[in-house]
Amino acid sequence: MSTPAPRPFAPAQRLQKLGGYAFDEVQKRVQALEAQGIQPTDFGVGDPTVPTPRLVRERLKTAVDERASSGYPAYEGDLSYRRAVAEWMKRRFGVSLDPATEVCATIGSKEAVFNVHEGLVDPGDIVLMPSPGYPPYKRGTLFAEGTPWFYPLKRENGFLPDLDAIPEDVARRAKAIWVCYPNSPTGAVAEREFYERLFARARRYSWVVLSDEAYTEIWFTPSAPPSALQVQKEGCLAFFSMSKRSAMTGWRVGWVCGDAKLVAVFRKVKTNIDSGTPTFIQDAASAALGDETHVTAFREEYRQKRDILCAGLKRAGLDVVAPASTLYLWQRAPEGLSGIEFAARLLEPQIAVVATPGEWLSDPVADGSNPGAGHVRFALVPSLEHTRAAAERIATHLSGGAPPSRRTGTSDARP
Ligand SMILES: Cc1ncc(COP(=O)(O)O)c(C=O)c1O
Repeated sequence: MSTPAPRPFAPAQRLQKLGGYAFDEVQKRVQALEAQGIQPTDFGVGDPTVPTPRLVRERLKTAVDERASSGYPAYEGDLSYRRAVAEWMKRRFGVSLDPATEVCATIGSKEAVFNVHEGLVDPGDIVLMPSPGYPPYKRGTLFAEGTPWFYPLKRENGFLPDLDAIPEDVARRAKAIWVCYPNSPTGAVAEREFYERLFARARRYSWVVLSDEAYTEIWFTPSAPPSALQVQKEGCLAFFSMSKRSAMTGWRVGWVCGDAKLVAVFRKVKTNIDSGTPTFIQDAASAALGDETHVTAFREEYRQKRDILCAGLKRAGLDVVAPASTLYLWQRAPEGLSGIEFAARLLEPQIAVVATPGEWLSDPVADGSNPGAGHVRFALVPSLEHTRAAAERIATHLSGGAPPSRRTGTSDARP
């Protein structure tokens, strides 16, 4: 028997086709500046820098001893955690959920957002999703061999999808639609009326509604934003996260909830891909859900940072829309600059501010335009003091005007 010729190693095609992950690239930029001795103010990744509330940390310490014998955690989460989630959903949204069948714990919502496609999407199925939008909607669809179809989020539509603009043949072939309100990156809020229109359309075309609700607790509107589940549970799976509400990004805990048959699909996917959330982390998350004081304080701090940064950008002569929610500010670049060029300008040593280019969070839509082009996203995570100093640097050094250049409309420069 002859020995087969050695083949050079190559990662799977599906991985080769993808560029880098946007937020990984942002982190690399920060590291590159730090290596030059410049300490930038990092508005790149939406990762809160404040400590996780003390009551959550204290609960973790006791829970670790209570759960001294580890064991694999249940895939769907401990019933006590699912009950805490159901009680919170009832208090916050007036939505009744059966903790046994309508809630499943997650290792933070990124795993859930990415993996859910494995249970819903067959090769060639269309998944409708926003551009700009959270990258795992697209990447999860592609890994499941589905076809992403991007609807634009435009300022003139309040950053809501224009459902009438989805072509009939696309609507018929679509299996699911992603929506994300409060919206990352635009900071827009959707009202009940929008969800009513969405579900009417979803019923007509038998779409599953995948509602990413990671930011429902960070809002600056007169009243708290609604959940899609207040309008309809059937055919809807909502994705929640402890990450932003309680500054628990590193703890990796969240949940999905909604239609029992979709929760069962997600649970089955999960049993095949990963494991349950550590039980002591669930205990700490339950404690966090029992407290609203820290959430109110975080919200107030984000509001202050939003106002400080908006004022700095206005002083620099930019057209600023203050976000109604989330920890993001979606900013148009100065006339003539792409988002990538604007982000590079902000990185210059006298400004030293890291922001994510809109092109990295968006894809071209049906008419060939890219709704994220010419924008950057600021994540309001540096401290108040650092935000104030960065806003001052932006106001002072950016107002010099933009060098003439072409606004690029494609995502070719995506990492
Ligand atoms: C829109 C959106 N959804 C979901 C997530 C995932 O959050 P996590 O995995 O930390 O729960 C993020 C994180 O930044 C996000 O921006």
